[in-house]
Amino acid sequence: MRAMVTEALKRKVEKLREEIEYHNYRYYILDQPEIPDAQYDCMMRELEELEGKYPELRSPNSPTQRVGAPPLESFEIVRHTLPMLSLANAFDENEAKDFDRRVKKILASPGDVAYVAEPKLDGLAVELVYEGGHFIVGATRGDGVNGENITQNLRTLKTLPLQLIRMEIPVPDRLEVRGEVIIKLDKFKELNRKREEAGEAPFANPRNAAAGSVRQLDPKITRRRPLEIYFYGVGEVAGRTFKTHWEILQTFPKWGLRINPHIRRCQNIEEVLDYYREMNEKRENLPYEIDGIVIKVDRLDFQTGLGEIARSPRWALAFKFAPKQETTRIMDIIVQVGRTGALTPVAVMEPVRLGGVEVSRATLHNQDEIDRLDVRVGDTVIVQRAGDVIPDVVQVIPSKRKGTEKKFRMPSECPVCGSEVVKEEVICRCIGLDCPAQLKGRIKHFASKRAMDIEGLGVKLIDQLVARGLVKDVADLYYIKRDELMALERMAEKSAQNIIDALEKSKTKPLGKFLFALGILHVGETTAEDLSRTFPRLDDFFRLSEEDLVKVEGIGPEVSASVVQFFRDKKNRESIQRLKKAGIKLIEPRVKEKGDLAGKTFVFTGTLKSCGRDEARNLVESLGGITASSVSKKVDFMVAGEDPGAKYDKARELGIRVLSEEEFKQMIE
Ligand code: IVH
Repeated sequence: MRAMVTEALKRKVEKLREEIEYHNYRYYILDQPEIPDAQYDCMMRELEELEGKYPELRSPNSPTQRVGAPPLESFEIVRHTLPMLSLANAFDENEAKDFDRRVKKILASPGDVAYVAEPKLDGLAVELVYEGGHFIVGATRGDGVNGENITQNLRTLKTLPLQLIRMEIPVPDRLEVRGEVIIKLDKFKELNRKREEAGEAPFANPRNAAAGSVRQLDPKITRRRPLEIYFYGVGEVAGRTFKTHWEILQTFPKWGLRINPHIRRCQNIEEVLDYYREMNEKRENLPYEIDGIVIKVDRLDFQTGLGEIARSPRWALAFKFAPKQETTRIMDIIVQVGRTGALTPVAVMEPVRLGGVEVSRATLHNQDEIDRLDVRVGDTVIVQRAGDVIPDVVQVIPSKRKGTEKKFRMPSECPVCGSEVVKEEVICRCIGLDCPAQLKGRIKHFASKRAMDIEGLGVKLIDQLVARGLVKDVADLYYIKRDELMALERMAEKSAQNIIDALEKSKTKPLGKFLFALGILHVGETTAEDLSRTFPRLDDFFRLSEEDLVKVEGIGPEVSASVVQFFRDKKNRESIQRLKKAGIKLIEPRVKEKGDLAGKTFVFTGTLKSCGRDEARNLVESLGGITASSVSKKVDFMVAGEDPGAKYDKARELGIRVLSEEEFKQMIE
């Protein structure tokens, strides 16, 4: 019989969760951990074990549950208790001073009014509701009155407390907090790099990336996106009153809610203007994008007195920075073809200096974007750089039109090979199997540092190899002769030999790198690595089904379909055979031959006698298996120890094979 859940046990679990949440805060928010990682892991393990043993103690707000819930069909609507207003804008100092004058006039204040000045973060506004200190609902701003319920996604953010810390001061009965979800610039670039490598469309800017990630129906995708949150305000608060906005902000960190380090209390508008100038300078060096500052009247009674007008509070103002924009003229729109066949329209512009660099090209993303902006060849446009990504066309200046501008339409045939172009949602793709542009893109990707790492195989050389028909497929690279190379432009004996040596050197590679190098649609570096660990032999891939693949953690139906399709394709199969024949040697991730658990998913319940649960999990993973924390149809085996929990019944219901500890041991030995 399982022991009863006593009050003492409940308190113990609660206490553990609070402690873990506190150390999360020290680690992720303050960047000042107080305890070694091992001690943190130990607390997590203890909590996991208790929750495994006593299912009635489980809670969606437990720190063990940041893993991401199952996907939703659509988002529910959440009505905000108090509407989430927007901000009136100011674009220069005079407008900011006007705001101050208006405030003083309405308040009939003879002296200065104090403000809080904050960076205006360029992300996505959200509202979170905490009841009794527990995170219960999170929503987007939506139209200000109704937002979308994104609770499951928000739970995956490590900078968001699932429970408020109550060590220093009590928490309100109900607290609605508001903040901005952002992605830092370096993480954004990394995310886009990975997307491009996987043949996916990159995000236009960090704000789009944050918004797109937060509004994912599958929380597991959100979990893998580098989202962070800063809190800057409240909605309704029950059980606690504040006098000033500054007091609210200073209380947030005590509850574990992260505030931006650059906020400042200013005694008057002059101090605010100083702050604005300072932040405008600092802006370039901040790790995230800000597009201005937000000025807020500090005293809350003053805020109430000021009220709102046209869905914006009279007590706050967004004071925007001059954007890194310029005007220029579009001379032409050309179409680039990537390695996956995706066609991207690119504006060729009269060169302008933007944020210190000269630019002459801007991406127009796709036809939908061209239609939205109504960009035509010959138009005068405003271009802008977000972070240091390729510039964007923000807007057309119609008053500069002469009438000679030409509309642009994406071609129905590939501009490089003439094959048919098909439209997949917003992306146009060339379906030509022998498209030289795709081929060049594939070779470039195959040879790149993170893939096969073929030193010296640059764009110019690739162009020549393709133009002369020496390489029609990546496998051809390994069959090129030294004489053939020497016949190319700018190729002396020595450089030809260097290429031959580099090709030879690249032949031995871990399977993950090779899978990545193949350039399978949606298979980026991490996915390739994950795949290789689960399926350590290249030959396995020719036999895998979509069902086998979706079992791998982090692999969804889209990736699975793409992998299966790739390995089924006759040309791809031949290419891989020729690569093998050329002497490609793949290093398989180390997996024991005996008891090979490749691709099998295990879940544990109850207490194991011979080893800890973590140890058992590691064992399974070291043998190529996968471990899950909850029971679903993806699970192949359940290992049931003593006193199995509710998972056991669910596994039985789903017809999952249940192993005793003995049977499990036999299997792995
Ligand atoms: S306060 C009524 N503070 O700006 C108060 N907003 O146009 C409204 N934002 O949707 C929000 N940083 O997404 C506030 N420090 C900050 C902010 C901020 C960014 C965004 C927020 C909001 C938009 C208002």
